[in-house]
Amino acid sequence: MEFKALKKSGIFNLLSTFGKEIFQPPGIVEWSERAKKEAAINSTVGVATGKPSEYMDSSSDKVGIFHLSAIKELYNNFKPEQIFAYAPVLGIPSVRNSWKKWIGFKLKDHNPAIESIITQPYAIPGITVGIYVLCRMFLSPTEKAILPEKRWGNYDAIIKRNIGAGIQSFTLFRENRFNYEGLKSAIVETAKNQDKAFVLLNFPNNPTGYSPDRETAEKICSTLKESVKESGKPLIVVTDDAYEGFVYDDSLKHSIFSHLAELGKDILAVKVDGITKELLFWGGRLGMITFAIPPYFGDKGEIELELENKFVGLVRATISNSTKIIQEGVASIVSEPDKFLQERERIISIIGKKANALKEELEKNSNPEILPDHFNSGFFAFLNIKDVSAEKLADHLLKKYKIGVIPFEKKKENINGLRLTFSSLSVEEIPRLVAGINNAVADLK
Ligand SMILES: Cc1ncc(COP(=O)(O)O)c(C=O)c1O
Repeated sequence: MEFKALKKSGIFNLLSTFGKEIFQPPGIVEWSERAKKEAAINSTVGVATGKPSEYMDSSSDKVGIFHLSAIKELYNNFKPEQIFAYAPVLGIPSVRNSWKKWIGFKLKDHNPAIESIITQPYAIPGITVGIYVLCRMFLSPTEKAILPEKRWGNYDAIIKRNIGAGIQSFTLFRENRFNYEGLKSAIVETAKNQDKAFVLLNFPNNPTGYSPDRETAEKICSTLKESVKESGKPLIVVTDDAYEGFVYDDSLKHSIFSHLAELGKDILAVKVDGITKELLFWGGRLGMITFAIPPYFGDKGEIELELENKFVGLVRATISNSTKIIQEGVASIVSEPDKFLQERERIISIIGKKANALKEELEKNSNPEILPDHFNSGFFAFLNIKDVSAEKLADHLLKKYKIGVIPFEKKKENINGLRLTFSSLSVEEIPRLVAGINNAVADLK
């Protein structure tokens, strides 16, 4: 956008240097707006939908957004104090305590003692703000964060355009497996120019739908340890666990944070998770930031106190505090996981069936022009497209086949493909989606 009207009006000159530079490039928002208007099959934005009769005590077959009936019922019984009062800057004690226990519950199979080494989580309005706050705290504008080239687009907006720092990409896959070598060389190279390395991992991954298995997770850990040794610089590793638990094969169902938490004093692990997908509460806006502070860092109580002071300073100056009514509801919900886990498992299994149906359909109609990345989790699948521009293909798909998808075209990073959101499709729509994509590629070849 050239901001011609702002410039003509004189308002542009009033903007700060930052205000002049920030902008939102065309992307997911535009494609999903177009899909809402033009598409019969909408596979763009990351929501999950289905029939209430399939997963809750309801006879309704009207397709709607997946949600948990326990949360919906909860808000009928709230007291004014729970709704209208201010919340402390980093969250109400009950949500912080219960989320800490929830993390302990999620990670207990791998590390039953994890609760004793993690901090009280900080409440922030969504994972997006959590990532922003962490980058603001740990990444200077002269430094680079290390991320795979296939990543959620908002990381670029936060790290590059908002914080003003850089991104060092590595290729996520190598020979159909996680690219350990790429991760290591990105860390070693980046650490040459800064005092530490900053890695951001996201599994289940957006946009590929990839989650590592246990062996891969362990190998990622040993890669990080080797990289730190070779670079001689410490490392902070942040996990964006937005889709934690949404895994449809035998791969890790818990966050890799559990494996990263105790890798030694040179590796500080931070977990960011939240309710958007985990509790299917998109509009709720609540995320949590949690550090792992094993004993080798020193006195955990003292470290927590000082870290909290830093984060109170930053959060107070950014968003002041997060919505209380949501925190009250989430505190109540996650303190009794039995009330929602069964229903959530049903939803995960329905989404898993959609993922498997898409996988089968892609295999049945395999096309040398279309190479899907390995997907086993989350809401998305990624199709690498060989010779046709992904943006042209997405445009053609909408116009001719009424199919909405998100194109990813980053020439510098060798990415040209489509992100499909299988979670928002019905199983019946999947053959039409795959046929449409195959036909559209043939049209444009
Ligand atoms: C990887 C990833 N992280 C974070 C988010 C957003 O999380 P929140 O809604 O909690 O800000 C998304 C959702 O689009 C995502 O895909």
